[in-house]
Amino acid sequence: MADVKFLSGENIPLEMHKVRMVQKVNLLPIEDRLECIEGAGYNTFLLKNRDVFLDMLTDSGVNAMSQNQYAAMMQADDSYAGSETFYRLEDVLQDIFGMKYFLPAHQGRACEHIISKILVTPGSTAIMNYHFTTTKAHITLCGGAVEEIIIDEAFKIKSDHPFKGDINLDKLNSLIKELGKDKIAFVRIEAGTNLVGGQPVSMQNMRDVSKICRQAGVKLVFDASLLGDNLYFIKKRDPEYTDVDIIKITREIASLMDIVYFSARKLGSARGGGILVSDDDLFLKMRELVPLYEGFLTYGGMSVREMEALAVGLRETMDMDVIGQTPLIVEALCNELSKNNVPVVTPPGGLGCHVDAMDMCVHIPQDQYPAGALAAAIFIASGVRCMERGTMSEQRNDDGSERFSEMELARLAVPRRVFTLSHVKYTADRMSWLYKNRHLIGGLKFTEEPRVLRFFFGRLQPIGDWPQQLAKKFREDYGDSL
Ligand code: F0G
Repeated sequence: MADVKFLSGENIPLEMHKVRMVQKVNLLPIEDRLECIEGAGYNTFLLKNRDVFLDMLTDSGVNAMSQNQYAAMMQADDSYAGSETFYRLEDVLQDIFGMKYFLPAHQGRACEHIISKILVTPGSTAIMNYHFTTTKAHITLCGGAVEEIIIDEAFKIKSDHPFKGDINLDKLNSLIKELGKDKIAFVRIEAGTNLVGGQPVSMQNMRDVSKICRQAGVKLVFDASLLGDNLYFIKKRDPEYTDVDIIKITREIASLMDIVYFSARKLGSARGGGILVSDDDLFLKMRELVPLYEGFLTYGGMSVREMEALAVGLRETMDMDVIGQTPLIVEALCNELSKNNVPVVTPPGGLGCHVDAMDMCVHIPQDQYPAGALAAAIFIASGVRCMERGTMSEQRNDDGSERFSEMELARLAVPRRVFTLSHVKYTADRMSWLYKNRHLIGGLKFTEEPRVLRFFFGRLQPIGDWPQQLAKKFREDYGDSL
């Protein structure tokens, strides 16, 4: 994706690829959409994809693959142990990250499971810029606690800070002093910080955090799942790196870390995951768990075909035309929404466009899940499926009370090379209609609430008949249109 100038002055993201395979999508009438969301317990995770028009739930495992990735799948070497495919993937990873060892795993959370089992002891704390849902769940399951020390700017919805994912260094120093190194499981930096709106971390911050951790003898773990977006922003927003090769930046980042792990459902536009490490002792400890939980050391739960696609996808990730596609479409969507007064997180991040439900649905109390209600309303209004990233995505406190999230976001994820500008325009149109009619959106309450990761498969019901009112108003304004 190149941001080429147009004489008209318009800022149009230009695709640096062409479409050679397509999937038909369905746009159901609003009455059917209403039935579908009711059937899904007002949880967008429980919708069937065939009922969804634009699937903006996530970029996980749904980025478009290149012809070279598909071609590579055909040369996969099927074997339980010692597959050539594994060695090809290992070579690419060692080259890109410059780290010694690679442990394969079936996806990102599997890496978190292994890392937590080795480094988290009961009563210990993992310090990080911000948690991701599965990361926190694995740490707490091992008896650890999570401390988040992202900079305050991260929670300002409207900001022009280029790196809102940075760690607050003063807080890091005081926590290390207060807890002592033996009580710290690890420090974790999440690239492209997911839950604060896909916001990047700066190189300088990574360098500073690494220095502090090395001086204190604390392990530094890097979640590289959203590294593609983060690399794009480092090149775009940090003048020191404008002319530096992406692979060089990646190696510099990896050199600052003790452990790097990733979800290949995001990084590399394939499916799978893995852990990179250079320390022999850490490698040997984590290696023991791979055959136990994932699969033998040369596949770790991934299919050989996916591993081939990943090896090619990772190389292709070292290209601004590839990693720029999501951020530029996100920016286009954020700009369209802002023009229509829809409150979105700025500056636009990677991963997706994040709508501020706390502002848009100010009339819905946090214990009625404004972001979850907005996600359901977006589906009703448009057939677009997005994801709640707010209080529903938190776990209740031990005493059963709600743990309110710092932000209530509805995330319109933009998988790489999947959506077009007309999709952006359509989404913006329906979102601005929804904004004008936001007073019609009401709250939700759980009817079935799982204890762990409830947002995945919990079921809810609307408080009042607001979904029907919303559909009625849609018909008044849009007539017979879908
Ligand atoms: N870390 C980050 C930053 C993630 O965004 C994800 C997944 C994971 C770890 C876990 O990886 O799914 O392969 O097990 N994020 C997806 C999302 C689910 O929709 O944002 P996984």
